[in-house]
Amino acid sequence: MEQLPFSESWVFLVVIVSSVVVFYASKLLKNRGEDEREQKAFVVPRGNRGWPLIGETLDFIASGYSANPVSFMEKRKSMYGDVFRTHILGKAIIVSSDPIVSKTILQNHGNAFIPCYPKSITELLGKSSILQMNGSLHKRVHSLIGVFLKSPQFKARITRDIERAVQHSLSLWSGKTDLVYLQNETKKVTFEVLVRVLLSIEPGEEMNSLKREFEEFIKGLICLPINFPGTTLYKSLKAKKRLLDMVNKVIERRKLSLKKTEGNTMPSIDVIDVLLRDLGDPEVLHQHRLPLDFISGNIIEMMIPGEETVPTAMTLAVKFLTDNPVALAHLVEENMEIKRRKDNSGEEYSWNDYMSLTFTQNVISETLRLANIINAVWRKALKDVKVKGYLIPKGWCVMASFSAVHMDERNYKNPYEFDPWRWKNIGDAISSNIFTPFGGGQRLCPGLELARLEISIFLHNLVTTYRWAAQRDEIIYFPTVRMKRKLPITIMPLQH
Ligand code: HEM
Repeated sequence: MEQLPFSESWVFLVVIVSSVVVFYASKLLKNRGEDEREQKAFVVPRGNRGWPLIGETLDFIASGYSANPVSFMEKRKSMYGDVFRTHILGKAIIVSSDPIVSKTILQNHGNAFIPCYPKSITELLGKSSILQMNGSLHKRVHSLIGVFLKSPQFKARITRDIERAVQHSLSLWSGKTDLVYLQNETKKVTFEVLVRVLLSIEPGEEMNSLKREFEEFIKGLICLPINFPGTTLYKSLKAKKRLLDMVNKVIERRKLSLKKTEGNTMPSIDVIDVLLRDLGDPEVLHQHRLPLDFISGNIIEMMIPGEETVPTAMTLAVKFLTDNPVALAHLVEENMEIKRRKDNSGEEYSWNDYMSLTFTQNVISETLRLANIINAVWRKALKDVKVKGYLIPKGWCVMASFSAVHMDERNYKNPYEFDPWRWKNIGDAISSNIFTPFGGGQRLCPGLELARLEISIFLHNLVTTYRWAAQRDEIIYFPTVRMKRKLPITIMPLQH
């Protein structure tokens, strides 16, 4: 092959090298441009910091006391969009009322978010509480509890226990000549169930003192974060200490009996049992070296999400049904039908029987949507998170507002109406982004099915055996959802 003269080969080389340089430079510039455009495309949500120190807290609280608890959200959504910035309860915070953004927050891929609660709550919970722990330990504890609550043995036993507790309470209420304050009375039923699930304590003095101390303890969850003798937080921390002592005693008893029955493969009877057995596993102990008071602390903290929520849902279901005689009649019909079948066959009700009462489950879904018992969850971003055009900067607190999604007419037609029939059409939405009363993702409520079962059993026994008359009352949404007068009712046996 003929060789190019030196000068020509040099020119050829220069041309090749410069084309390569130009190619890569333009690629680099293009990438940088794209990066910049991308950076610009993701914006920190707009909003208002409000007044110095208090921010927009007063407006936020006022909406919680009004008939339209999402008015705070709606006003800001209309000004800034579905994701906005505000400053409430002492924190600058990004609020999401967008189902996709909230889903990203809940799913928490890449562990970008950790729970973020007001200071008084953080202090009361302790770092090793399931509500605050993160990473692999959280995953393990969450799944242990979830698996236990789904086990067939647990389901069969707890169905009988709930029936007994509900039937006993209803018979006491119906014998009363004075008013029954439903929100308080249902708490007694569900507390009994909760302590059975967690630590198998039977009704009696031990359960009563556990309840007394627990009530003192939770008063501190929403209070000024001042820990000084006489303050609510101080009393609450003292109550927690007494609670820990009580639960520790139960654990010691159970440890002894576990030792005696070492090697047995009987299924766990409660959450203490589940956690004790797991800690007894030498591999787990080696990995985490968890002290026993990890269990007692968690038992107490697991009472928090279960204690208020279920009785509030029961009470609000009764309130909504009282105000909607057509829905009530439909519910009675469905429940009477299964009662007749069971009475004729003499068969016991199973967990599945209750769960397959379609209209009853729709009443429960609609109650949870409308009541928004847990109206939001709070998180803190550990890194910059980009989603749907928004940038949630590292270090910011973010609130995924469930109520703003549940009450948005783009998601639900006539959102303020109690309409259990809507679930006939949108049944699938139960598992979608627009219906999240039990949260979602990594921290999806493990008590979800148990809560539905408790409410079903309560409604079934109430409507098939009794009738009631409720006095006027109204719902308050701040700091937690509740009836202003605890929903006073009179209750009497059905005349057959
Ligand atoms: C109507 C009743 C209930 C509602 C509306 C409800 C709602 C919720 C929500 C929204 C969360 C997620 C919190 C977050 O993401 O930070 C949650 C978590 C939790 N719930 Fe429930 N809950 C209910 C009943 C129960 C019951 C009966 C139990 C008890 C067994 C329970 C145990 C828990 C626990 C242990 C967690 C923490 C899960 C974790 O962080 O991994 N809940 N609940």
